[in-house]
Amino acid sequence: MGCFPWSRDVTKRLKNKMEYKALDQNYDHPRTTLDASEDSSEDTDKKEDYGGVEQSVVSKELDCNRRVGDDDRKKGKSKSFKLSELLHATENFSMENLLGEGGFGKVFKGKLKETGELLAIKKLDSDGSQGIREFVVEMMTLSLVDHPNLVKLVGYCVEAGQKLLVYEYMSLGSLEGHLHGPNRKGLDWNIRMKIAAGAARGLEYLHDKMNPPIIYRDLKCSNLLLGEDYHPKLSDFGLAKVGPTGNNTHVSTRVMGTYGYCAPEYAMTGQLTFKSDIYSFGVFLLEIITGRRAIDKRKSAKEQNLVAWARPLLKNRENIYHMVDPALQGRYPAKSLYKAFATALICVQEQPSKRPRVSDVVKALDHIVSQTYTPQSHPS
Ligand SMILES: Nc1ncnc2c1ncn2[C@@H]1O[C@H](COP(=O)(O)OP(=O)(O)OP(=O)(O)O)[C@@H](O)[C@H]1O
Ligand SMILES: [Mg+2]
Repeated sequence: MGCFPWSRDVTKRLKNKMEYKALDQNYDHPRTTLDASEDSSEDTDKKEDYGGVEQSVVSKELDCNRRVGDDDRKKGKSKSFKLSELLHATENFSMENLLGEGGFGKVFKGKLKETGELLAIKKLDSDGSQGIREFVVEMMTLSLVDHPNLVKLVGYCVEAGQKLLVYEYMSLGSLEGHLHGPNRKGLDWNIRMKIAAGAARGLEYLHDKMNPPIIYRDLKCSNLLLGEDYHPKLSDFGLAKVGPTGNNTHVSTRVMGTYGYCAPEYAMTGQLTFKSDIYSFGVFLLEIITGRRAIDKRKSAKEQNLVAWARPLLKNRENIYHMVDPALQGRYPAKSLYKAFATALICVQEQPSKRPRVSDVVKALDHIVSQTYTPQSHPS
């Protein structure tokens, strides 16, 4: 099951920053749509049918028609499935095949009749046009990307009022399940750093290798999926946005994302930059190192927000040994622990200009990964 089942009655579309603050304080569901601008033009052109949405939403959200080159277009290789194929693959979407549930619908495991290929099939809730926009953006974005750290979109299905996205099956599920579920001890230091480095490389591809570059906007533990041998891939590109180009410093957009991961300047102004993703990455890395959730209402007021808790403590290097996930039982190289915390801290700097570029984050994490922990070389 998904770690954070979502229901539409908790979705709050807010009209101004003050309301955002109020909701932030009363947080109880991580995925919420926020509206930082008065401009609701994006909502006015929702269409019921898929074809209408494709034209209005894709051209607006991803701006594919104008800016994606022919080479990128040729990469699009996702296939259109028949509903009957997916019904067969999932045994009529039986609950036994349910992998989890997120903000936009349930995800089922499936097996293709012809090839035996395993799939994960996301069945979008039929209500709510927000899901339609995400469906189209995700389909378009994933058809264009091609990287070992980004989950592959195998295909899609739009039939009989149903919208389904078909992904490669990631056998070990989401990082969230491992980090905060019962299997926490399985995630040793080396695996955690391999996951962080892989996520950074996926992000680097979106920021620096894609043309046009893409801001991911939804980096968090539940969107990091794990394959065999804990191979990490980023998933869920429904919120992805084409980044600023030319002399533009940011993209102005509605504030969307997940509480606890959202960069403060983006939450307050709706001005989205690549550095917003870097902030989310810093939160994600802190979560991996500490085993704490980005927001945890069960903790005391001072410890509920991971960044607010970690920032002051990290001023004193000695604190890192009290902040690291106790589930690691002291099994990590001390120098790497310090470097990992330092990397996370610089990513969550209040001022976006002080946050590093993703290529620097990749370098830092690759170095940490190269310093493998072994009990022999690092006695406790
Ligand atoms: N390709 C996949 N392979 C295996 N399991 C998957 C796959 N995609 C999703 N899942 C499972 O389904 C769950 C729900 O995914 P989904 O993306 O819908 O929601 P979420 O990430 O928990 O929340 P949100 O809606 O905020 O993204 C995931 O946590 C994961 O366990
Ligand atoms: Mg997700």
